[in-house]
Amino acid sequence: MASARDSGAGLEERDAADQNFDYMFKVLIIGNSSVGKTSFLFRYTDDSFTSAFVSTVGIDFKVKTIYRNDKRIKLQIWDTAGQERYRTITTAYYRGAMGFLLIYDITSQDSFVAVQDWGTQIKTYSWDNAQVVLVGNKLDMEEDRQVPTEDAQRLAKELGFQFFEASAKDNVNVKQVFDKLVDVICENLSENVNSDASPSANHKGAGLKDTPRSIPGGCAC
Ligand code: GTP
Ligand code: MG
Repeated sequence: MASARDSGAGLEERDAADQNFDYMFKVLIIGNSSVGKTSFLFRYTDDSFTSAFVSTVGIDFKVKTIYRNDKRIKLQIWDTAGQERYRTITTAYYRGAMGFLLIYDITSQDSFVAVQDWGTQIKTYSWDNAQVVLVGNKLDMEEDRQVPTEDAQRLAKELGFQFFEASAKDNVNVKQVFDKLVDVICENLSENVNSDASPSANHKGAGLKDTPRSIPGGCAC
């Protein structure tokens, strides 16, 4: 794992600098402040959780390498600040993102209402075919639930997003969410291999194995 915050030479830096991969997928985590974006990322990359709330300033990233059908996929996961005042900075990172985790908090109706706006931000600032997984976090707080599962399911369907409820705290569906995002990115890239709809259009024909690519064409994963 590697983080923009880390310093000093170690395994984490080596992972970030490691060029030995078949594909690199850039994904962003977005959603209102305090829904649990940073917690979700840390659960996934470090298997850790803290109940202290340290609101993210600007943007940060971590790297995790996973495998799909013998292919090494380097995930560059950007964790954005949910606070409005950072919006100009964070939207600048949407371009080139192949996938988004759009997180809301099942105990906060406000964070769910905001999902529409986040969806509009994705449409405005990112690649047309960017894939989105909508995540209702804090599933461990069922007793405080404000957002019915069916409402979120309906909205996800309407917006064309995948949907999960999850808990960063109890480690429920965290890996499954990232796996799904990688799967839909791979499926989408395969479909677009011969189409100019993909940002990979100008990379068509590049050797699949020889050159690690951040914008793959014809993903065989
Ligand atoms: P910003 O950086 O301000 O955009 O917020 P964020 O979305 O990154 O939220 P963060 O991950 O910092 O979490 C906010 C608070 O919610 C912290 O106190 C976390 O401990 C708590 N939290 C995060 N995920 C969960 C969860 O699954 N369950 C519960 N009960 N608390 C959670
Ligand atoms: Mg954060």
